[in-house]
Amino acid sequence: MYSVLALLCILPIVWKIRKIFSLYLWEDLKFFLKIIRCFLKIKKSVPPRSSSGMLDVFLQHVSTRPHKTFILYQDQAYSYREVDLKSNQAAWALRHYGNLRNGNCVAVFMGNEPAYVWLWLALAKLGCPMACLNYNIRAKSFLHCFQCCKAKILIAAPELKAAVEEVLPDLIQEGVLVFYLSRDSPTGGVQSLLDKVEASSEDPIPESYRSDTTSESPALYIYTSGTTGLPKAAALTQEHVFASCIVAMLCELTSEDVLYITLPLYHSAGLVIGLRGCIQTGATCVLRKKFSASQFWDDCRKYNVTAFQYIGEILRYLCNSSKKGNDMDHCVRLAMGNGVRPEVWKEFIERFGKIKIFEYYGATEGNVFFLNYTHKEGAIGRCNNFQKLFQPFEVIKFDVEKDEPVRDPTGHCIRVARGETGLLIGKHVASNPFHGYAGNESQTEKKRLRNVLKKGDVYFNTGDLVVIDKEGFIFFQDRVGDTFRWKGENVATTEVENLVLMLDFIEEANVFGVLVPHNEGRIGMVSIKLKEGRYFDGEKMFAHVNEYLPNYARPRFVRIQESIEVTGTYKKFKMNLVKDGFNPFCIKDDLYFLDDSYRTYRPLDQQIYKDILEKRIKL
Ligand SMILES: *[C@@H]1O[C@H](CO)[C@@H](O)[C@H](O)[C@H]1NC(C)=O
Ligand SMILES: *[C@@H]1O[C@H](CO)[C@@H](O)[C@H](O)[C@H]1NC(C)=O
Ligand SMILES: *[C@@H]1O[C@H](CO)[C@@H](O)[C@H](O)[C@H]1NC(C)=O
Ligand SMILES: *[C@@H]1O[C@H](CO)[C@@H](O)[C@H](O)[C@H]1NC(C)=O
Repeated sequence: MYSVLALLCILPIVWKIRKIFSLYLWEDLKFFLKIIRCFLKIKKSVPPRSSSGMLDVFLQHVSTRPHKTFILYQDQAYSYREVDLKSNQAAWALRHYGNLRNGNCVAVFMGNEPAYVWLWLALAKLGCPMACLNYNIRAKSFLHCFQCCKAKILIAAPELKAAVEEVLPDLIQEGVLVFYLSRDSPTGGVQSLLDKVEASSEDPIPESYRSDTTSESPALYIYTSGTTGLPKAAALTQEHVFASCIVAMLCELTSEDVLYITLPLYHSAGLVIGLRGCIQTGATCVLRKKFSASQFWDDCRKYNVTAFQYIGEILRYLCNSSKKGNDMDHCVRLAMGNGVRPEVWKEFIERFGKIKIFEYYGATEGNVFFLNYTHKEGAIGRCNNFQKLFQPFEVIKFDVEKDEPVRDPTGHCIRVARGETGLLIGKHVASNPFHGYAGNESQTEKKRLRNVLKKGDVYFNTGDLVVIDKEGFIFFQDRVGDTFRWKGENVATTEVENLVLMLDFIEEANVFGVLVPHNEGRIGMVSIKLKEGRYFDGEKMFAHVNEYLPNYARPRFVRIQESIEVTGTYKKFKMNLVKDGFNPFCIKDDLYFLDDSYRTYRPLDQQIYKDILEKRIKL
């Protein structure tokens, strides 16, 4: 009798568990098998022991489908063969005029254009790593980025002349060769490169020129914002760059696709996922210097685009553009990227038609990757136990105020329960390493967490807070520590602080990111303590940040405080400031707002605040 009752009681539970289990177990397994399939396909695409797999795959396309279009840019089309020949010429020119040899690093400082692609291939042919400088950086940051990868040569777009001239004396002093990608150079001490490339031979580059390259050699340096102030160079090995095309393959990019890349190639999304994905699959890629919402769909129609890459902002800007009768008139079938919010995603699909959206999670240098392969709204992926075997990760308790993981009395970190927010960390294991950053071991060590669950283990600290729900779906919550994200770029608070402190009327500065309704990420804000007897000079501050900081890193709001609170360990308190935001209705301190049209910081009154919330002022 009792056993029958007991059975009746647990039956619904068993039923429920079974349902969840079988539903997602099947999806999880399917995804895991897809990873394995893609992985084997990638392995098979090159000869065993190939040390520069990406180049080998590219050269195969050149021989099997030389006339297939590889790059579309403005009104030009370049076939696989044309890009190959151009990269041969560039390699010969760099070898001859730059005395470039296997292993020497070359930094490129330019926007999205076909030359980015053929220079990358040229460097691969010479076995030389490429450092991808963010073209927004200037002065001290520029020099730092250049130096930490130990580059011998700088290749810059001529339109970035002013930024190059600013650091030129330092570069020349270090014996760096500087080239403009043009046919002549207006700057003394800088040579032209394009004329030399065009005059060079189209002959293939002998393999012996890259014979020292192994799969562990650095192939790319990609910069991520540093928590310690200056950007950090993540060194991606040949193997990493080769294998990274798996993301595009998991997102089902094929050789038939035309991928539209508006994200900058100096980030890994555009270069290592997008362009690298095209090279693997033999697809066509459309390059555009800068994303433009008004041009987007016209471009898609013009180039017959079938796939594009996004960050959350892109989809939102597209949804915000005025409706047109031909909104559905395109052949885009897939989009891959990260940071889309569920409501934007819904609106996007309704308006522009059924486009398959692959939302993924991953950092350039990190060792944790998720993809939302189930149709769960808002999730960045699933806690997939099969995938976890090869890519172990944990979510641990994190003390946001102290800005560090919580440790138990034995010194170990604590796993959070399902449904609870915690810090995402990826275990450093042979199958899933964290390579760290070039040039500064202390930066690498800062991203490592040691003795996490047992003595001696090492994890990569993603700096991201996530929550895993009862069914195993992972949701992104926030970033921690000294960076925040705005317009798809990471901003390091200390870098901005140091810059703001150069102003002579400022005693102390505390930079943080605040939420703005209807916007992804956080916008920069600074709380300032003025020097005794000085006043806040908005015009001067505007001119200063305008000159030295890229748009996305400039503090849009200023709060004047009597004193800057610090913790017991002299870390600045940011929590309450972040919570207060820039709301003049509840903040008594003086607030200012960076107004581009007035070229100054204006007092932030309640009207401006309302205009921002009601989107009359765009940020
Ligand atoms: C796009 O497709 C149309 C029709 O198939 C074709 O005529 C046109 O040349 C294509 N455009 C490009 C840039 O490939
Ligand atoms: C776009 O946003 C602006 C405010 O920033 C708003 O006035 C406008 O109605 C929006 N347009 C569309 C089509 O959503
Ligand atoms: C990814 O998530 C979005 C919603 O956030 C969903 O609409 C989309 O279908 C998901 N993608 C896949 C491949 O399941
Ligand atoms: C490395 O980074 C630390 C900050 O973490 C800094 O103090 C130090 O000067 C840097 N060293 C070099 C060689 O850049």
